Amino acid sequence: MSVCAIHAEMIGHPHFHYRDDVLHGEVVPLDKLAAELGTPLYVYSRAALGAALGRYQQAIGDRPVLVCYGMKANSNLAVLGEFARLGAGFDIVSGGELARVLAAGGDPSKVVFSGVGKQAWEMRAAIEADVKCFNVESQDELYRLSDVAQGMGRRARVSLRVNPDVDAQTHPYISTGLKENKFGIAIEDAPEAYRVAAGLPGLEVVGVDCHIGSQLTDISPYLDALEKLIDLVDTLKAAGIAIEHLDLGGGLGIRYTDEVPPSPKALLDQVFERLAARGYGHLHLVLEPGRSLVGNAGVLLTTVQFLKHAQARNFAIVDAAMNDLLRPSLYTAWHGLRAVRPRSGEARTYDVVGPICESGDWLAKGRELCVQQGDVLALESAGAYGMTMASNYNSRPRPAEVIVDGGKYYVVRQRESIADVMRGESTLP
Ligand code: LLP
Repeated sequence: MSVCAIHAEMIGHPHFHYRDDVLHGEVVPLDKLAAELGTPLYVYSRAALGAALGRYQQAIGDRPVLVCYGMKANSNLAVLGEFARLGAGFDIVSGGELARVLAAGGDPSKVVFSGVGKQAWEMRAAIEADVKCFNVESQDELYRLSDVAQGMGRRARVSLRVNPDVDAQTHPYISTGLKENKFGIAIEDAPEAYRVAAGLPGLEVVGVDCHIGSQLTDISPYLDALEKLIDLVDTLKAAGIAIEHLDLGGGLGIRYTDEVPPSPKALLDQVFERLAARGYGHLHLVLEPGRSLVGNAGVLLTTVQFLKHAQARNFAIVDAAMNDLLRPSLYTAWHGLRAVRPRSGEARTYDVVGPICESGDWLAKGRELCVQQGDVLALESAGAYGMTMASNYNSRPRPAEVIVDGGKYYVVRQRESIADVMRGESTLP
C-alpha cells in the first residue's frame, strides 16, 4: 500500500481544478453539484467548450477553414447551441442529428452530412434544410441522393468521401481510413465515382472528403492522406471536375493520460504548407473535430456504493456503469479518475466497477485510491463519446447533464426517470 497523493493537477482539464481541497468545475464545487443533482452526473464547462473551439479559430486566423463540429461526440442541445453561437458548423450523420442542429439554432449552410447509410428521408430533410454538402460514401448512395434531390426539383451538393488507405495508428475500432474499413470509396475508384456523380442530374460536385480515424496523436497520417487527396484533385481537374473544398474530417486526439496530441495550429500550418506547395493555397478547407472540442470539457461524477476487498482484487463499486460511459468496456479506454474530496491515508489498488451484470462492466482498473463509501469520484475526459454512447442497459435511467458557467450551473438534460426508460413500450393484450 502506498500513501495517497493529494490531488495533482488535472492535466488535460484547465477548467477543472482543486480549490480548498475540493474539485471544482470552473468555480462550482463538484461535491455540491453531486449532492444537489445526484450521480452519475455529466458535468461540462462552458469556458472549456469555448476555449477548445477558440484554439481552432485562432489557428485558422483568416484562412478559409470551416469548423464543422463532429457532434456525435456530444450532441446535447446546449453544447450545440454554444458552438453555433460561437460560429461553428456541424458534421452530422443522421436525420436525428440534423434535427438537433436545427433545434439548437445551428446554421444549415455550415452543415456537412456524413455517414455510410443515409436513408431517403434523411436526405430529403437535409436538402430541405439546404445543408452545405453531403459527404457521399458509395456509388449506390450517389444514385439515391440524385433521385431524391431531383424529385424535389433540387440539386444536392456533394463531396465523395474517399478512403486514402492510410494507417491512422489508433485503436482499430476508431480507425476508418484503411482499405478494410467500411467507410468511403477507395481512392483508386474515386475518379470513376466522380465521373458518375458529375453526370447525375440531381447532384453538384463541390468537394473531396476523408476522415481517417479518431484520437490521432500524430500529424503524419493527415499529411499522407492530404497528398493522396491532392493527387485526386489534380486528376479531377484534368477531367474537368472543379473542386471548391477539401474536407479532412476530424480525429485530432486529446490527452487522456500522457498523450501529447498536435495542436490545431500545428495541423493547419502543415496542411496549408502542403496545399500551397502543390498550388492549392486557395482551396477552402472543412474540418470535423469532435473529441478535441468536448472531450476534456467534461467529467462524469459517480459515487462509491460499496468497497469489496475480494481475494484477488479490491473493487470499488460505483453508481456509474458501462451504460453511462462505454469507452472503457468497448475500447479498454483509460479515463483519469480523481476523488472530488481527496482523503489522505493509505491507498489501495482498486478496480472501479459499475453495478451492471457483466464482467466487462468496469470504468477504471488497477487505480491507487483512498476511498470510502459515499465518496464522489470524477472520471476525466468524459465530455466526448460519453453521454452520446450511453444506453439503458439493465433498465438504468441515463444520467443528467449539467454545464457550469463561472459560479453558475445549468441542468441541460434532466436525469431520466424509470418511466422514461419504459416509454413507448406496452404489454401484449
Ligand atoms: N467526422 C466523421 C466522418 C467521423 O466519423 C468522426 C468520428 C468525426 C468526424 C469526429 O472525429 P473526432 O474528432 O471526434 O475524432 N466512439 C469512439 C470514437 C468514434 C469516432 C467516430 N467518428 C470513442 O469513444 O473513442
